[in-house]
Amino acid sequence: MFHIAPSILTADFARLGEEVTDAFEAGIRWLHLDVMDGRFVPNMSFGPMLVRSLSPIAARYEAIVDAHLMIADPDNYVEDFAAAGCDYITVHAEACTHLHRTVQHIRSLGKRPGVALNPATPLSAVEEVLPDLSLLLIMSVNPGFGGQKFIPASLDKLARARRMIDERGLSDVVLQVDGGVNKSLIAAVRDAGATSAVTGSAVYAPGRSRAETIAELQQALAK
Ligand code: DX5
Ligand code: ZN
Repeated sequence: MFHIAPSILTADFARLGEEVTDAFEAGIRWLHLDVMDGRFVPNMSFGPMLVRSLSPIAARYEAIVDAHLMIADPDNYVEDFAAAGCDYITVHAEACTHLHRTVQHIRSLGKRPGVALNPATPLSAVEEVLPDLSLLLIMSVNPGFGGQKFIPASLDKLARARRMIDERGLSDVVLQVDGGVNKSLIAAVRDAGATSAVTGSAVYAPGRSRAETIAELQQALAK
């Protein structure tokens, strides 16, 4: 199952409930929430309160909610995001001193743990915890902002991540790619082995209908 996972970062925050509902009405069943603290990344976005307001909408469509925590010291916040209604909670390997313990902590809360790797971080950073993960997130931009350009080397890193997962028979691990994915790239990231592609500005483009932008991505995948 391949998921288009819209990120709301470039959505109209004055109409966020409608923006999210429009995506679900267009067939989306995965919502990607970019949490930024202005420390781990040079931008600030939102916290658990916003997740708490959006997760009931997702629940009505039986959609997955994943929180991408681009924050320092994520251990201090995973309980708040778990309580706010996330299904997956993804932390950055670069932000965790004791990554195995953080992953166990997320799982102990009944949530699915994900680990994100920045473009410069090698896959070996997750090799030891891969069997404990529900999701591996390959960043195809440097985190902090929507609307950035896809880093081409990410395709090769995705393919190597796919091999690393398959060699270990870890078929339940979602391989997610995030950053700069649009209609001309989405089939390529799927073919490289991704099973979830985050799409922010490709969906929430100013002045474009969400049904249209999502249909374009779905058509690109159908080719
Ligand atoms: C960047 C975020 C991404 C971003 C995706 O730090 O993790 O999820 O919002 O937006 P686009 O698809 O516009 O790059
Ligand atoms: Zn993200």
